[in-house]
Amino acid sequence: MYDYVSVTTREPGAPSPVRDGTIKLHDAAGFDGMRRAGRLSAEILDALVPFVQPGVTTAAIDDLVRTMMLDGGGIPATLGYRGFTHSCCTSINHVVCHGIPDDKPLRDGDIVNIDVTTIIDGWHGDTSRMYLVGDVPIKARRLVEVTYECLMLGIEQAKPGNRMGDVAHAIQTHAEKHRYSVVRDFCGHGLGQMFHDAPEVVHAGRPGTGPELRPGMFFTIEPMINTGKFAVKMLADGWTAVTRDRSLSAQYEHSIGITETGCEIFTASPKGLHQPHLA
Ligand code: MF3
Ligand code: CO
Ligand code: CO
Repeated sequence: MYDYVSVTTREPGAPSPVRDGTIKLHDAAGFDGMRRAGRLSAEILDALVPFVQPGVTTAAIDDLVRTMMLDGGGIPATLGYRGFTHSCCTSINHVVCHGIPDDKPLRDGDIVNIDVTTIIDGWHGDTSRMYLVGDVPIKARRLVEVTYECLMLGIEQAKPGNRMGDVAHAIQTHAEKHRYSVVRDFCGHGLGQMFHDAPEVVHAGRPGTGPELRPGMFFTIEPMINTGKFAVKMLADGWTAVTRDRSLSAQYEHSIGITETGCEIFTASPKGLHQPHLA
């Protein structure tokens, strides 16, 4: 039902990998490439922590992200991606994902997801975290914390022999236990030498369903969790997704690789700042 193919790192000048629906199984060189790309993305999210304050614009954050990526020897994957013209996504409060950086200053009490993808030597490191802007109400903090727990509970299920549905079920169970909802319209994704590849990584589902996880698979887990209902609405800019009921939404994302015994998180925070407000 699902096709798995072993891939080796492509030589410079070789044709680009294609999205042909197969699930790619990568070798040691792939893990090494993902480690480098993932690390720079995570370092950038670490470096943003003191900068995300009331009064700062998301356009200024975007400039900083682009500069840090280029200085670190990477390329922003989102710059020019399907017409997106920024180096990160900034999704504030009821924005679910793909918020476009702009000149509006962040306000005290906002929660904002910053999502970055760095390309190094063709490998993609895709990760996002929530940042608390100034004094954030407890209701929003709680959502942020539970969303992080959802991501990590999903990652715990990411090991050989399990299926994607096991990851999804762990996330959904935890979110719904807190009376939150799991967004259905956007998923995690395979990645590697492509930004978005098979398989689709759903964040709500039944145990024992979906593709089996095998060593060498690389994918993101990136649950979007709402305080209200899961329905989303697209804004006229064609990118910004918001909650239909305008309830708050939070998201965390890691890029991981399945190993023989479990998984490796390529985008772990070198400074232990994955939840900056708790550090
Ligand atoms: N980084 C996002 C993801 O997690 C994708 C952003 S695509 C963009 O898959 F064009 F909106 F930037
Ligand atoms: Co992603
Ligand atoms: Co992302």
